[in-house]
Amino acid sequence: MSSCHKSSYITTPIYYVNDVAHIGHAYTTIIADTLARYSRLIGHNTFFLTGTDEHGQKIEESAKKRGRDTKEYADEISATFRTLWDEFDISYDKFIRTTDEYHKKGVQKAFTTMHENGDIYKDTYKGHYCISCETFFPELQLVDGEFCPDCGKSTNIVEEESYFFRLSDYEDRLLAWYRDTPDCILPRSKRNEVIRFVEGGLNDLSVTRTSFDWGVKIPESFDDPKHVMYVWLDALMNYVTALGYGDDEKNMEFWPARVHLIGKDILRFHAIYWPAFLMSLDLPLPKHIGAHGWWTRNGEKMSKSKGNVVNPKEVADAYGLENFRYFMLREVPFGGDGDFSQKALIDRINSDLGNDLGNLLNRLIGMSGKYFEGRVECDLVEKYYKAELDEVQISLDKLEPMLFELQLHRYLEELWRPLTVANRAIDRYQPWTMIKEGKTEETMALNGLIATILAKVSLMLHAVMPKTTTIICNALGFEITPESFEKVIRNGEILVPFTTAKRDPLFPRIEGQLLVEKKPAEEPKKSEDKKKEVKKTEGIALIGIDQFFATSLKIGTIVKAEEVKKSKKLLLLQVDIGEDKPRQVVAGIKEWYSPDDLVGTQACLVANLKPAKLMGMKSEGMLLAAKDADGLSLIRPEKPKTIGTPIS
Ligand code: MSP
Repeated sequence: MSSCHKSSYITTPIYYVNDVAHIGHAYTTIIADTLARYSRLIGHNTFFLTGTDEHGQKIEESAKKRGRDTKEYADEISATFRTLWDEFDISYDKFIRTTDEYHKKGVQKAFTTMHENGDIYKDTYKGHYCISCETFFPELQLVDGEFCPDCGKSTNIVEEESYFFRLSDYEDRLLAWYRDTPDCILPRSKRNEVIRFVEGGLNDLSVTRTSFDWGVKIPESFDDPKHVMYVWLDALMNYVTALGYGDDEKNMEFWPARVHLIGKDILRFHAIYWPAFLMSLDLPLPKHIGAHGWWTRNGEKMSKSKGNVVNPKEVADAYGLENFRYFMLREVPFGGDGDFSQKALIDRINSDLGNDLGNLLNRLIGMSGKYFEGRVECDLVEKYYKAELDEVQISLDKLEPMLFELQLHRYLEELWRPLTVANRAIDRYQPWTMIKEGKTEETMALNGLIATILAKVSLMLHAVMPKTTTIICNALGFEITPESFEKVIRNGEILVPFTTAKRDPLFPRIEGQLLVEKKPAEEPKKSEDKKKEVKKTEGIALIGIDQFFATSLKIGTIVKAEEVKKSKKLLLLQVDIGEDKPRQVVAGIKEWYSPDDLVGTQACLVANLKPAKLMGMKSEGMLLAAKDADGLSLIRPEKPKTIGTPIS
């Protein structure tokens, strides 16, 4: 399948500038970046758009609350998004701001065209408006007659003169689109929700406001200067104004979008309003709208007031940007909600990335170094390991359709099968035995098989982990380019011989949680609840598993022990936990242990305590011990354990 000349236009939502980016924003952007990178790799002419949504009452009020000029405030927050995406190496081709002049011009052009096509008329509107969602809701949909059904905030009754878009005229055409294009909304299950909503009947949409003026004015030809554009009309238009709609039209050849990536909360705007606007403008409809689920924290919605918002930069800095990308895409089925936990992230890094992928490269480097001075040749792989190659191919063939259906978790799951084939082949054929038996050719071919699998997996993983896979492929003697992709993946060409060199592990093992969790702000409890809680926990504060794993506990051997002079309590110990040098620990155990009792014995060390100074001596850890009326005992493993073994 050759895919040159095709074009792929991929977008994220444009983010509101009333707050800084959180993990949810990063998720959408990382999915879009992955698709854009993959599109480029397979030779599609790709355009990737992101940006900020800066108009509307919400932003105006947010700036006002902080005593700021609205535009200055929008400039500042918009820049924080752009900087974050730059730090995250997001490969966007354009960053649009709805305050950009060309955008405003395009929105005005659209308004005029919709009017010329008979879709805009003037009337008055009375309804319940939620500022947070920038949406009107019919009274019937309100919770307790007042609160927004989407975000739960209080709504206001607004009565104003407004221009309307004849959304009701589009019901049938929208339903026909959903029916005729089963993959227009992904995951497909979400399409039914939209169909049901539209079948329930659509009201015309109020598309201008007079109650505030932080927005795009309607065109001068309407001679009605108090009207500004409804923020969702303004915002949705970004997808075409970014390509030059209503201005220079320079990049309109990219339209229609291959996929608009969004969160499920804004599906209705994208799957109903947007296609109706496009139909009115005689523009083709997007190929897909992909709606992902929500990230929560310990099962709860993230919010500033709860203090449980996950900062994507902190996570990426602590665990590695590409590890974080892999985790987000692998952990949660696209469309479903996901809960963020450091424990799950650490497990993915240590297991999928460290054990399955990183170790495979290490094994290849180790074996080729030991048996062939680093040389790897792949020409005999097919002769000896055809069954394994075939098994790998079955997985590879399934991948691309999964990616374009946005089934990214399944894509990564399937991509890991070839790694299992490789690791299993080593265990099964035992190259260390083969080489002893003089089966040199078979051993070289086995190394060739591993290299081939690593090359194919890296090429298919490149869009998710660009830097890591570049390192792997460089170690395999080639560069990742659309040409090498075509050769190795599409045409199944074998790798040219190369020589490996020793290198540091790609995914050093992570033992404990690397980020300190902020304590969520507690909601004031009713006294009854408090009583219940005390009873339930019998006075012990309960912690989550994440908090437990924040402590790195390790088995160590005490290799040296001496008394600290002038101290009745302290001993100075050297504890080996498998690092470059033993840890120095100052322990208050002199009353119960003499140095001679300790040397050569094992103990449990808290290995991630901040170093402290005791009597001027540095202490780099703490030994676990229990003290009762009989005195103090160190806690030790029942049987000797390998130095450095984590305790969990
Ligand atoms: N400005 C509108 C989009 C206009 S697009 C023409 C908007 N902005 S937003 O900043 O509030 O949200 C942007 C995206 O972030 C949405 O797709 C939303 O679903 C996503 N997320 C916000 N919080 C989220 C989570 N907690 N988890 C996952 N994504 C979430 O809506």
